[in-house]
Amino acid sequence: MPVLLAIVLSATAVSSRGAVATAHPLASEVAADVLRRGGNAADAAVAAALALAVVEPQSSGIGGGGFALVYDAREKKVHALDFREVAPGAATPDLFAARGGAPATPSRSLDGGLAVAVPGAVKGYAELARRFGTRSFAALAAPAARLAERGFPASPSYSDAARARLACLAARPAAARELLVAGADGRPAAPAPGERIVRRDLARTLRLLGRDPAAFYRGPLAERIARAARDDGGVLAASDLARYRVRDRAPVEGSYRGYRIVSMGLPSAGGAIVIGLLQALEREAPREGGYRPVRFLHAMAEAEKRLFAKRAALGDPDFVPGAAGVVEEMVSPAYAARLSAELGERARPVAADTPPRDEGKHTTHLSVVDAEGNAVAITTTVNYLFGACVVVPGTGILLNDEMDDFDAAAGAPNAYGLVGTGANAPAAGKTPLSSMAPTLVFAPGGALWLVVGAPGGSTIPTTVAQAISHLVDDGMSLEQALAAPRLHHQWQPDALRVEPNALEAETARALAARGHRLQVAERPWGNAQAVRRRPDGRWEAASDPRYDGAPSAP
Ligand code: DON
Repeated sequence: MPVLLAIVLSATAVSSRGAVATAHPLASEVAADVLRRGGNAADAAVAAALALAVVEPQSSGIGGGGFALVYDAREKKVHALDFREVAPGAATPDLFAARGGAPATPSRSLDGGLAVAVPGAVKGYAELARRFGTRSFAALAAPAARLAERGFPASPSYSDAARARLACLAARPAAARELLVAGADGRPAAPAPGERIVRRDLARTLRLLGRDPAAFYRGPLAERIARAARDDGGVLAASDLARYRVRDRAPVEGSYRGYRIVSMGLPSAGGAIVIGLLQALEREAPREGGYRPVRFLHAMAEAEKRLFAKRAALGDPDFVPGAAGVVEEMVSPAYAARLSAELGERARPVAADTPPRDEGKHTTHLSVVDAEGNAVAITTTVNYLFGACVVVPGTGILLNDEMDDFDAAAGAPNAYGLVGTGANAPAAGKTPLSSMAPTLVFAPGGALWLVVGAPGGSTIPTTVAQAISHLVDDGMSLEQALAAPRLHHQWQPDALRVEPNALEAETARALAARGHRLQVAERPWGNAQAVRRRPDGRWEAASDPRYDGAPSAP
């Protein structure tokens, strides 16, 4: 039974000296330039992440946080850096809960000061550069500062995102000044695609942080950051910034048809879902007469439901003692065997229904490999489009709204429709549970083969797993694998979301006949960025054709 596999011609970048894919051509170019001048993958990744903070502020920035997987080719070891935001010291489990019987206001965890968690990006990038790079942090921040100072054309995604968040940004003068333009009536407006954005305050801040990244966390700048969140109804304190630490985490590992998969572990659930899903699919035939069998898609949806249901019990492992055990189970071969054994012919019903609220392309992923075969996969975010819409006056720093990744209350869906049982409730110093899944794949012989990741909130792990399956199972080119239409089930709501035109009518009917509740999404989702080793040994990079990204190579 056929699944339509879209073929889109987008360029790949190929070189024996490494390659890079990011969500913005200017950031990819910055990274390729670092590689050309002899910098390594960590140098290039940090320079690209800082450039993205300038040109793609709707997705990530120095007021946000994220995860990096670093593959050190010499010691053949994967390091997982956690520079994700943590809740301020004043956070309590009922921070966003109903007051006096009134329903909780979801927007307080998305817009404004209370949504802001302690940013980790600057410490994360500085530590990545110091431990794994070869260049000074100042040298890696310089291209981003230049982009901010000279200005750049707003991308179509920037323009769309600014329109979507216009009310939130325009209500805040510092944000409007930094991120919007003056409309015909003189009021703040979203820039048209191609309209020039100049960020001089951010350029100055990037140069200062280039010389001294610790300045973000102590002293006058830290005071200003905390004040900006508090002036907007938040609870962030300068002492929260002073306490912030980057953490080394244990990555999660598994395998798919002989390929070794390494992805982000807790406090992300993303890696466990990528691996659990692929391992559950290993017993299914991925192709039948050149097509994806309906049975494979059925097995995929059912495994996704079960894995997302498990996710509901997860939270920061430093606060939730049982979380590590649940992840261990999710990635175990025994669990995959159980999912297969319990897979019936029909879809299992899911108890509760909550509407999905966002399909999401904010957040950003970048993949880099250098000439020595070192690799970095970073997924980093300010969470929702333009984060909390809070800009620290005079600094260009846009603050995240990562607090929305906590459960506002047990069973209450967040911006991505994800629900939890309370393990992921806010608490002082706690990291909100993430779905981000920067992922490395090693070929059966052991050599690094693929660096991949994507944004998209809850859809991140299913996007990454489907890209890997298209490469391993279908022998697709890298562009085809990223372009192929996506399906997604996240347990709640009970809907198998499909991208527009993803399924042929016959396949859709066959899935519906098995009891799947298909829901065709209005827009496609995900913005995957990948680098892969070609059979000739050279590296090729490709960007998701859905949005503005472009690969580059030295
Ligand atoms: O960490 C997470 O899972 C979310 N904050 C990621 C947000 C995201 O991917 C938004 N993009 N659509």
